[in-house]
Amino acid sequence: MNLKAVYTNALYRILQEELSEEEIGKLIEHPKHEAHGDLAFPCFRLASVRKEAPQKIAGALAEQMNDPLIEKAEAAGPYVNVFFKREAVNAEALSQLSVLGAEYGDKIRTGENVVFDFSSPNIAKPFSMGHLRSTIIGRSLANLAEKNGYKAVKINHLGDWGTQFGKLMCAYTRWGSEAEVRKNPIPTLMKYYVHYHEEVKEDPGLDDEARGWFKKLEDQDVEAVKLWMWFKEESLKEFNKVYELLGITFDHVQGESFYNDKMAPVVADLEEKGLLVESEGAMVVETGTDEPPCLIKKKDGTTLYATRDLAAAIYRKKQFDFHKCVYVVGAEQQLHFSQVRQVLGRMGYDWTGDMVHVPFGLILQGGKKMSTRKGKIVLLEDVLRDAITRAEENIAEKNPSLEDKDAVAADVGTGAVVFHDLKNERMNSVEFNLEQMLTFEGETGPYVQYTHARAMTLLERAEADPAPASPGEGEEEWAVVKELLAFPDAVERAWTQYEPSVIAKYVLSLSSAFNSYYGKVRILESDDRLPARLSLVKAVTDVLKEGLRLLGVKAPDKM
Ligand code: ARG
Repeated sequence: MNLKAVYTNALYRILQEELSEEEIGKLIEHPKHEAHGDLAFPCFRLASVRKEAPQKIAGALAEQMNDPLIEKAEAAGPYVNVFFKREAVNAEALSQLSVLGAEYGDKIRTGENVVFDFSSPNIAKPFSMGHLRSTIIGRSLANLAEKNGYKAVKINHLGDWGTQFGKLMCAYTRWGSEAEVRKNPIPTLMKYYVHYHEEVKEDPGLDDEARGWFKKLEDQDVEAVKLWMWFKEESLKEFNKVYELLGITFDHVQGESFYNDKMAPVVADLEEKGLLVESEGAMVVETGTDEPPCLIKKKDGTTLYATRDLAAAIYRKKQFDFHKCVYVVGAEQQLHFSQVRQVLGRMGYDWTGDMVHVPFGLILQGGKKMSTRKGKIVLLEDVLRDAITRAEENIAEKNPSLEDKDAVAADVGTGAVVFHDLKNERMNSVEFNLEQMLTFEGETGPYVQYTHARAMTLLERAEADPAPASPGEGEEEWAVVKELLAFPDAVERAWTQYEPSVIAKYVLSLSSAFNSYYGKVRILESDDRLPARLSLVKAVTDVLKEGLRLLGVKAPDKM
């Protein structure tokens, strides 16, 4: 059931000679004030077709309007405002929702794959705030793709290859200690890496040594490979703690090293197509735009980040025949993805338009970039644990007798962090403020979770079962039903715009509509509308839970 479609059809029955259904649909608006009607149709377009005054057309249309779900149509200047039959719409909507449950809003399955390249932290470095955003946004987009009928293929393109490993090996073999790394892997490796950068300023010879190590790694030298595998293992242990806290899973962990044996054919192909040119000893491909050329091989023959992304894109197209390959990576890599796409285009691939870079803004603290600057590193695991601890304190204060306290605190703490990130349009920067994230009021994850839990409690306490029917024709229930009916559209918009914030804003406004209803109506009163009111409450719990799920946030039954 879709109110806009109902109105579109009603108008189309009158206007089919003059406007298409699609045109009508595009013209329909929401009136500025709810009291003016549920939907409005402006008559300017029709006025130019008919060469008549829009006011006059509006008056005529209002009189002709005839639909079993429309209560009345009113001309207001050049607009035709309609009011729906609330009881009929309520009953119909709630009956559909009770049948569909969590499947409400699902689109028809297309059978096509959408690849998501997201999270992708770098081995031997801390999991940064930027990687956190990629992880959270990427997971939500993958959920949205599934809801919109696609099969999501989730890939973690770990940064596990590149010259930085040469530097790290150089540092480790000179100044490192195995025991120290084992005790505190990432901060220690990070420390060595930072130390390398200090030393190289004094002793530029180290640079050659580091390059030598990376060359050894690319040539499969036993010692180099062994060290690399160890660094990777230790790093993954740390990353997995974060993934576990956030409940993130991947279909494939195919880091940059996965493409080691897949680059040579790509480079050969570039060569054969005459695209590879020498530039200051390195091999590059001109992009054919005013962007700088794409670096494919360094002077010493080692490959680069872009080389691996070329191989990865080709591999993924072959392997998954993707409908789209979505890269959830910070805005600062715009040029990189543009270059990779240009090069693939010049190679003759016709699917480069299906590679989508979905960028996002920074996480700030006190207005400044929250970074992993020299030594002073923010470990993400600590941030999440901190959020969980504060959620525990909150619960201890507000609901000390709650069962399963630890599990709920974990859901609320991580949910707060995730929701806080996703409620902003992704290109905006996010100000990191735990205090603010964790309040039960305002636009927060805990507020939505709390609204859901409160509705669940009503269902539990009620002395009847929900049965779909109209709960009444009051403003409050009507506002809730209209929000419920808007969910499928939000699901679609969030996906087509790659914008999880659409869903976050949606669950906030459904929560606020429900909370007004809760404040004004005695839901549990035992009268003959009780089962109907409960069906409204049930629908709200289903949609809030599903909306939160799309964002990657859990909805505990009790809080
Ligand atoms: N590891 C990279 C970084 O931290 C992100 C990788 C993004 N994905 C890709 N296919 N390039 O900057």
